[in-house]
Amino acid sequence: MTAILQLLVSPRPQSFSRLIAREVVAGIARLRPEARIVERDLAADPPPHPDRDLYDAILSATADEDPRFALSEQLIAELEAADVVVIGTPMNNFTVPSTLKAWIDHIVRIRRSFRSTPAGKIGLLRDRPVIIVTAHGGYCGDAPPAQPDFLTPYLRAIFATIGIRQTEFLRLEGLSRGPERVAAALDQARRWIENGLPQSLR
Ligand SMILES: Cc1cc2nc3c(=O)[nH]c(=O)nc-3n(C[C@H](O)[C@H](O)[C@H](O)COP(=O)(O)O)c2cc1C
Repeated sequence: MTAILQLLVSPRPQSFSRLIAREVVAGIARLRPEARIVERDLAADPPPHPDRDLYDAILSATADEDPRFALSEQLIAELEAADVVVIGTPMNNFTVPSTLKAWIDHIVRIRRSFRSTPAGKIGLLRDRPVIIVTAHGGYCGDAPPAQPDFLTPYLRAIFATIGIRQTEFLRLEGLSRGPERVAAALDQARRWIENGLPQSLR
């Protein structure tokens, strides 16, 4: 059975990243009709920013069973159980929204999802496809005025740190530039869902 973890970030009910992330999940479910979908809605249930307890637990090298890791363990277990992860997220101020960053701060944990060696960090989780749908009001590509994109390289690096290298990005751009640009972005995304899903899922 294929387990899909669907991670939604935007607080907007009419969110484009939610819409297309759900369509990606539906596209995978068409290929894998037996798929089980687990949804984590970071807008409805935002993980807390790392507090003093989490800092102390991480820095004291305590056991994974330490109750201060309870949420971190729950979120990592959800990720470990997934064969495919689909994330729908807006770009906020050129990078990830703070709710997604808080989730990352719970799942990227030394000695649990990566270990640190003199040669660098080594991921401890199994590799698997992660499809990331990003919604942008403007453009990070060639269309002026192009903005910097700290979201894509950041997420690629953070997943690689924990051992997940199969990251695919589906960008929805120009969403604040009127209905024609929105329609073009959605059309392009839907074509990708038809033809571009990772080979490993086909
Ligand atoms: C706080 C905030 C910051 C934003 N920063 C950016 C940005 O840096 N670049 C961009 O292209 N759009 C930015 N936007 C626009 C959103 O990315 C865009 O409206 C997107 O469609 C929201 O995602 P959603 O449709 O999934 O809700 C920002 C919006 C908000 C509310």
